[in-house]
Amino acid sequence: MLERVRPLARPALPAALLAAAVRPGARRWQRLAAGASLVGVWEEVYRRYRRDGRSRTRSEWEQLRSTDWEAFSRHYNERVPTIEEEFELWGEYHQHRHEMRYDLVAGAVRRHLPRGGAVLDVGCGSVLVADRLTDVAARYVGIDFGGHHVAYASEKLAARHASLWGAVGRGDAERLPFRDASFDVVVMSEVIEHLMRPELAVWEVSRVLRPGGVFVMTTNNASEVPLRSPLSHLLAWLEKALGATHPELISYRPWVWPEPVDPEILPPGSPPIYVPHSHHIYAETRRLFAAAGLDTFQWSTFEFPPPQSATAQWLDRRGEPGKRLADAVEAVARSTPGVRRLGCHLFMLARRTGEPVAPRPPAGVWPGPLSP
Ligand SMILES: C[S@@+](CC[C@H](N)C(=O)[O-])C[C@H]1O[C@@H](n2cnc3c(N)ncnc32)[C@H](O)[C@@H]1O
Repeated sequence: MLERVRPLARPALPAALLAAAVRPGARRWQRLAAGASLVGVWEEVYRRYRRDGRSRTRSEWEQLRSTDWEAFSRHYNERVPTIEEEFELWGEYHQHRHEMRYDLVAGAVRRHLPRGGAVLDVGCGSVLVADRLTDVAARYVGIDFGGHHVAYASEKLAARHASLWGAVGRGDAERLPFRDASFDVVVMSEVIEHLMRPELAVWEVSRVLRPGGVFVMTTNNASEVPLRSPLSHLLAWLEKALGATHPELISYRPWVWPEPVDPEILPPGSPPIYVPHSHHIYAETRRLFAAAGLDTFQWSTFEFPPPQSATAQWLDRRGEPGKRLADAVEAVARSTPGVRRLGCHLFMLARRTGEPVAPRPPAGVWPGPLSP
C-alpha cells in the first residue's frame, strides 16, 4: 500500500506546500509555515539525493576498475551493435533524437572544415556524420574499434558518398594511426565516455590536428539521472546547472552507468566486468582539453528531455507529434538561460592553439578510475 502511495506523494507534497505558500488570501503566517515546510522537504530530498549519489558513485568507480583490455575488446567486437542496428532496437523516436545530434555535429564540421580539407571521425560508428556531408569536397577518414562496425561503415561509405571521399578503418582512439598535424577537423561524438583512458585519446586528437584545427566533441552531460518529479528534484536540476562550472557540486559524479560485459564472452567463473560509460562535467573536460593544447571556444548542452525518462516514453508513443513536441521543447530549452545547461549531452568545440603541457598526459590530468 505504502509503495503505491509513495510515488504519488513524492510530487504531491511539495506541490501542495507550494500551492499553500502562494494561495491568494493566505495569511502571512500560513505562507511562512508552508514556505518553511517546503524548504524542509526539499532539503531532505536533496540530502538523500546527494548521499545516494555519492555512494553510488563510489561503487561504480570500483566497478569500472574491474575492466581490462581483453574484456573491452571482446565487448566492442562481439557485443556492441552498430548504431543503425541500435535504432532498430530502440525505435524511431530514439533515432530522431540521435539525428538531431548528427545535424549539430555535421553543422560544426561544415563551418570549420576548409574546402579540400581532411576530417577524422574517431569512433565513427555507422558514419552518420559523413552521411550529412556528402556534398562537401573534402577527405573523410573514419576509424572505429569494433570490426563489424568498420565492415558495415566501409561498405556504406563506398556505396553512397559523392564529393566526400575517404575510407574507414580499424583503430583505437587512444593510439591513432596517423601522422602529426594531418587533419583540419577531428570529430568524436558519443565516444569519449566509452574509453578506458580518455586523456590518452584527447592527447592523440591534439597531436593529429593541424594548428588552428577544430575538435568537435559530444558526450553525456553529468549528471544525467532519471528525474522522478520536477518538483522534488528541482535541487538536482540546480546542481546540474551550477555543477557545469563548479564540478564539486555534482553528486552523481561522471562514473554513472558502467556497462556490464556479457558473462558469455568472459572466461568461465569470471567475476562481473564493467566497461566505461561515463558522464562528463563541462569544466573538468575543458580543463583536460586545455592541458592537451585544445582551447574550448564554444559549448552547449542538448537533448531535452532525458531520452530514457517517462516523458520520453510518452513522447515516443505519440509518433510524429511526439517528435515535433520534443523539437519544440529542445528549441525553448536551448535558448533559456540556466535551463540550457540541463541537456543530457554536452557539445564542445575546441581549437588546437598550443602544445600539450607534457608529451604524455601527466598523472592527475583526468580523474578517471583507470587513469594514473
Ligand atoms: C555510441 S557509439 C557512437 C558512434 C558514432 N560516433 C555515432 O555518433 O554514431 C560509440 C562508438 O565508439 C566506438 N569505440 C569504442 N571504443 C573505441 C576506441 N577505443 N577507439 C575507437 N572507437 C571506439 C564503438 O565501437 C562505437 O562505434
